[in-house]
Amino acid sequence: EESVKVGLLGLGTVGTGVASIITRHQKELQHQVGCPVEIKKVLVRNKQKLRENSFQDALLTEDPQEVLNDEEIDVIVEVIGGVEQTKEWLLTALSNHKHVVTANKDLMAIHGAELLKTAVEYNCDLYYEASVAGGIPILRSLSDGLSADRITKIMGIVNGTTNYILTKMSTKGSSYDDVLKQAQELGFAESDPTADVEGLDAARKMAILATLGFSAPVSLADVSVEGISSVSDVDLQYAERLGYTMKLIGIADRTKGKIDVSVRPTLLPNEHPLSSVHNEYNAVYIHGEAVGETMFYGPGAGSLPTATAVVSDLVTVMKNMRLGVNGKSVLAPMNEKKLKSADE
Ligand code: HSE
Repeated sequence: EESVKVGLLGLGTVGTGVASIITRHQKELQHQVGCPVEIKKVLVRNKQKLRENSFQDALLTEDPQEVLNDEEIDVIVEVIGGVEQTKEWLLTALSNHKHVVTANKDLMAIHGAELLKTAVEYNCDLYYEASVAGGIPILRSLSDGLSADRITKIMGIVNGTTNYILTKMSTKGSSYDDVLKQAQELGFAESDPTADVEGLDAARKMAILATLGFSAPVSLADVSVEGISSVSDVDLQYAERLGYTMKLIGIADRTKGKIDVSVRPTLLPNEHPLSSVHNEYNAVYIHGEAVGETMFYGPGAGSLPTATAVVSDLVTVMKNMRLGVNGKSVLAPMNEKKLKSADE
């Protein structure tokens, strides 16, 4: 049977994980989608770069058009990062009738609405589960699992790097610079870790969560942000002694139709369920009027956990292809007006 062909943009931490899962879980994937999955081309920034795994060199290219215009490619998997240029690439991919799976939270928090609209226009899928909380299937949970409810509050630890840093600083008394370096080596941090430590990465993810949870467009500019760079190990140890844990917490709240979203270092009592979320782990607490309290927990960063979210999106795209329903189910606010009137 003919294989589904994937064009991979990026072969960094997440891209390597995606390639590895597609190879290692080929049998499981085939079982679910009924045909083989094959990576046909891989866009990299530098072909000469030494790579640990001997990924087939013949598949690598530095020319994006070679991937985006390859008629045989069905799905573009974007794990290369970047915003404006990457947006253009994905618009090209969609206009060439290729489905898109992306892990890019910067891009989705800024241009998500436009990309999703374009995807629908071309009857293409655009999924982005990996953009928030790595391996936790939180976007599906919000848009499918809790779709009958009215969400009032989303609260979470959605950045693995800062949670890793805060954990190590308070438990081991390690220095900020040392643990940041570790977080980078483990592949949790962004290539420029400023976005992590200044809370911007968490803010992007909260904007995406709030958009889905409240079915209303919330953009990065709507989120008030404070990072952890001014938190000292003395603060952390002092908090510890008083029975508190410092966490970088994102909160999205909707009361009386007004939406408030923020990210800031917060002291939580040790008994609070989010206090026991350590290292690169993430957790998202969701309160709905009918369901009450729910909490989702799992690895929020790292190669294979994030890659499972990417490849699961790929499986969804392939299932949609079999059913001929691509572009029909979109993870985005469908009708803002309707929601507002429901609130009144
Ligand atoms: N830098 C991000 C984090 C990676 O630390 O959570 C996952 O989005």
